[in-house]
Amino acid sequence: MTQELSQQIEPNNIPKHVAIIMDGNGRWAENHGQMRVYGHMNGVDSVREALEAATELKVKHLTLYAFSTENWNRPKEEVDALMELLVDTILKEIDKLHKNDVKLSAIGALNSLPNSCQTTLQTAIDKTKNNQGTNLILALSYSGRWEIKEAIKSIVDDATKGTLTSDDINEELITSYMQLNNVPDPELMIRTSGESRISNFLLWQIAYSELYFTETLWPDFKKADFFKAILAYQKRERRFGLVSKQIK
Ligand code: IPE
Ligand code: IPE
Ligand code: MG
Repeated sequence: MTQELSQQIEPNNIPKHVAIIMDGNGRWAENHGQMRVYGHMNGVDSVREALEAATELKVKHLTLYAFSTENWNRPKEEVDALMELLVDTILKEIDKLHKNDVKLSAIGALNSLPNSCQTTLQTAIDKTKNNQGTNLILALSYSGRWEIKEAIKSIVDDATKGTLTSDDINEELITSYMQLNNVPDPELMIRTSGESRISNFLLWQIAYSELYFTETLWPDFKKADFFKAILAYQKRERRFGLVSKQIK
């Protein structure tokens, strides 16, 4: 079925950037009579599948919401387990990622992560920085409002230094102060687990993204599900404020 789906995909209309809110690990674990962390562990397999699917379709940028600013308020055991899982997963996967030409990067308040995470992450980022394949971007200790706040702080700092004035402020300039400044806005944003909300993900960048919500819980989200999301995206008419006739 997976191959059948991928054959239906129009190769000339592949999004350059797909962003995913990977949600539902806790409920998946509960459905299997297990602790929440078991859901997170199984979620790693879905990350691998999404990356493989993106690579196969030549989606250049894949941004994954792995840990939000708000997630710091979860019970300490769960936060600790997630941080440990992050380190273990990077250590386990880095050679394969590198071999597959994947370029790993991260957005978010990375300096608030535990030291072991920062070191492991930075080593992996450095190792893969010259790779030319899929750009895998992990959003860690990230939120959209945090990113906008940071951008505003930097803009005000530069204005204070005199390197820019209010006349210089336009949408391009604001974008250039965002962490994702060198990546095009996601054409497609996917959220799993049946929740229809953005939960403070890429607020600035999703102004015109197509949103795709699925009931599937993240650990059950496989390559075929990624292909289904792309097929749904390809059926959408992106009008950007115009009328249908203008874009035909
Ligand atoms: C998403 O799954 C993973 C993270 C937020 C880190 P959840 O842990 O939110 O799972 P549910 O939503 O409770 O099922
Ligand atoms: C969003 O999921 C954050 C990540 C997937 C990392 P949450 O489970 O934290 O979102 P809410 O709380 O249901 O909105
Ligand atoms: Mg959740």
